[in-house]
Amino acid sequence: MKRTKIKIALNSDSAMEEILIKGWVRTKRDNKGFSFLELNDGSSIKTIQAIIDHTPEIEAALARVGTGAAVAISGELVESPGKGQKWEVRGKTLKVIGEADQETFPLQKKRHSDEFLRGIAHLRPRTNKFGAMFRIRSELAQAIHKYFAEKDFFYIHTPIITGSDCEGAGEMFRVTSLEAGSKETAENDFFGKPSHLTVSGQLSAEMFSLSLGDVYTFGPTFRAENSNTPRHVAEFWMIEPEIAFSDLVDDMDLGEDMIKYLITHILDNCPDDIELFAKWVDKTLMSTLEGILREPFKRLPYTEAIEILKKTKKDFEYPVEWGIDLQTEHERFLCEEKFKKPVFVYDYPKTIKPFYMRMNDDNKTVAAMDCLVPRIGEIIGGSQREERMDVLVARMDEAGLNKDEYWWYLDSRRYGSVPHAGFGMGFERMLMLVTGVANIRDVMPFPRTPKSLDF
Ligand code: 4AD
Ligand code: MG
Repeated sequence: MKRTKIKIALNSDSAMEEILIKGWVRTKRDNKGFSFLELNDGSSIKTIQAIIDHTPEIEAALARVGTGAAVAISGELVESPGKGQKWEVRGKTLKVIGEADQETFPLQKKRHSDEFLRGIAHLRPRTNKFGAMFRIRSELAQAIHKYFAEKDFFYIHTPIITGSDCEGAGEMFRVTSLEAGSKETAENDFFGKPSHLTVSGQLSAEMFSLSLGDVYTFGPTFRAENSNTPRHVAEFWMIEPEIAFSDLVDDMDLGEDMIKYLITHILDNCPDDIELFAKWVDKTLMSTLEGILREPFKRLPYTEAIEILKKTKKDFEYPVEWGIDLQTEHERFLCEEKFKKPVFVYDYPKTIKPFYMRMNDDNKTVAAMDCLVPRIGEIIGGSQREERMDVLVARMDEAGLNKDEYWWYLDSRRYGSVPHAGFGMGFERMLMLVTGVANIRDVMPFPRTPKSLDF
């Protein structure tokens, strides 16, 4: 007989004379003559209860079963007299698939702290909270592809190993096949020149936008920034749409629409898993998400944002001055206290932004936009791209970039250049937004952060 997933069994329309369930034991309760087993197989947050009468054979099997053990139970699916569940299994056979040593099994019935569970990241998906998290993560990833497919975007696979630093921040991991301590130069390395893990697929995506129109990438990106914050990791996933014949307003429209679509999709498709977060992680989760869906986002030029921040009586750790990059405290003030909704800040000073952003007529600011959301701050960073060859070249010179290395990028402005725009959305930050989880380490299977590379 094939196993039935617990989610399917619990949603059954009718009783079943024969069913085979396989899963991990959450609890075992022994009574005189029979035992209850509570099983979860990861298919949903719900467990199924199995009741099994004692026979010498069953008792021998039960003696080997404790919390965390993997078992197979065959029997009947019958209506449950118990509260809160429609179906239960009247077990006939019990097979122990994998025992769990009760002396050392670290997951107890009680609630464990996030810190403790980070130390056993290989086992934490067996808990209710992290099972729910990783089902939502899967659903969110698929919703992103669904969103773009519905809008006729093409999915582009951009390289992970790259020779250019898109963001110009110099926060790149080197890729080499040379032995540690080797005195060889980059010319004798694998690619014959310095190579790195990508910080963004944007420059490649632009080439495809200027060929296929509307495209997106969705893949892992890497940053060697040494910041130990609840919002930064060294390896994260980024969604990067790039739209041709478009400007900064189109770009913000797309970002806003996408955030709203993804939230709606998760609320519609993961109600049981989301309920856990709304109940135990962030009591304001539902009102925050509903608030985001209800109204248009605020759109605010950087210069006005600075004026607002300067006028407030709040004591910021980082002083506010025109020209600074906004810090998380400033970003959170704008969307949590001032506007109480997501805020797009746009037209940032050119001095704090990369070379590819389109110069505005004031010659001081560029057509950049960041989307700020409650609790997190920046979730999206994007811009209209500089499509004018002469302005782009001047910006590259200012930034001290080697134009020979970017010959292919410049070609796109030489042949049929058009206004285009795009952005990057941090996939993990989106997951933090929809679940209310405050630490990025708790929305990733195996997070990579400074001095931490376990699992
Ligand atoms: O603002 P960023 O650096 O933008 C870019 O890389 C552009 N090239 C994107 C584009 O226009 N195609 O990064 C985009 C987003 C941020 O808003 C943030 O959500 C996320 O990526 N992000 C990180 N997430 C987790 N850990 C980090 N260290 C992150 N750095 C950026
Ligand atoms: Mg940014």
